[in-house]
Amino acid sequence: VISLQRGIPSTDLIPVAQLAAAASRAVERDPSGALLYGDAAGYAPLREWFARRLGVDPARVVLTNGSLQGLSLLSEHLSTAGRHVIVEAPTYDFALRILGRATPELSLVPVREDGLDLTDLERLLRSRGPSVLYTIPTFHNPTGTTLPEAKRRDLLDLARRWDLTIVEDDPYRLLFIDGEPPPTLLSSDGDERVIHLTSLTKTVAPGLRCGAMVLPSALVDDIVDAASGTYISPGQLAQATAMAYIESGAFEPVIERSRAALHERRDAAIAALANTLDVSWSVPAGGYFLWLRLGREEARELGARAARAGVGVLPGDAFFADRSSNGHLRIAFCAAPAEAVRQGVSRLAELIRRAGPRSQAERGRPRSRTRD
Ligand SMILES: Cc1ncc(COP(=O)(O)O)c(C=O)c1O
Repeated sequence: VISLQRGIPSTDLIPVAQLAAAASRAVERDPSGALLYGDAAGYAPLREWFARRLGVDPARVVLTNGSLQGLSLLSEHLSTAGRHVIVEAPTYDFALRILGRATPELSLVPVREDGLDLTDLERLLRSRGPSVLYTIPTFHNPTGTTLPEAKRRDLLDLARRWDLTIVEDDPYRLLFIDGEPPPTLLSSDGDERVIHLTSLTKTVAPGLRCGAMVLPSALVDDIVDAASGTYISPGQLAQATAMAYIESGAFEPVIERSRAALHERRDAAIAALANTLDVSWSVPAGGYFLWLRLGREEARELGARAARAGVGVLPGDAFFADRSSNGHLRIAFCAAPAEAVRQGVSRLAELIRRAGPRSQAERGRPRSRTRD
């Protein structure tokens, strides 16, 4: 089976030997830091490293067991603060599960070819009052889109005008394929409206469970208190290992290798779709995902047929809070080497071709492949 379902790097992209060496170094040089309970906000040297990279005061950085745990702590806090929660349609399915648990009603704003629809967002903000927006502006999961710089400025303007808190989930930024993405929302945030989430999951290894969030100063104590009341302190061994790994100098070269591999895998997926009518996509400039718009509302059925043909892809409905679409499939091209991606997507393309083109009557307007 060629599994292109989840956004997990294939094992060949994980620096196994360097991590083993880093774990052993971490334990030997700092046994109490790595092996006892620690600060609920995380291992201090790693907090400082994230703070330097993100250009913020380390006091605003809280490390968690993966960035999703940060989102979970935040969502409990924000729901008790009575803020309305807005998510993108579509958006990351696990984030939806977390936010949906904490909030009875999520409002949806569509994602277009150039990211979040700001006109729709403003309409919602007018009617809803103080809100929180969960957004993935860079190499979006699942659509692969990136919010252009001008729209980032407009989004921050809206946030100031309508008292909006923005949760910027940004785990893919360093995995660019076609050049560096626009700067983070956090970097243009003058008044601490942006909460920034990032992670070592995509750049080092998911199993480390190392996530980081940058909080508004006023929120730090509450979130750290919730963290300490939940797990005392996050995984010190993982964080000390991550720090030793970063100090070994492997971080950048390994990401460089991942970028090259993702480039090959993305292009293999797109090449395998050539001559497949009735499906369109935008070429993602980085990250892990290719998002297919099907000519027919049959993504779940096609996903099941693909599974029987030995290819795992994810029907898109899981990424819509209202489960409203059956017309999209997500291909996680990160998850296998290029040749396997090519084979898997070729089998999928064959199934799409066999389903046949839509009839003339169904065909409202011609579909075309689009490039951002
Ligand atoms: C947008 C987004 N946020 C967060 C995560 C998970 O991050 P972590 O492993 O740090 O919890 C993922 C993984 O797929 C993701 O796509």
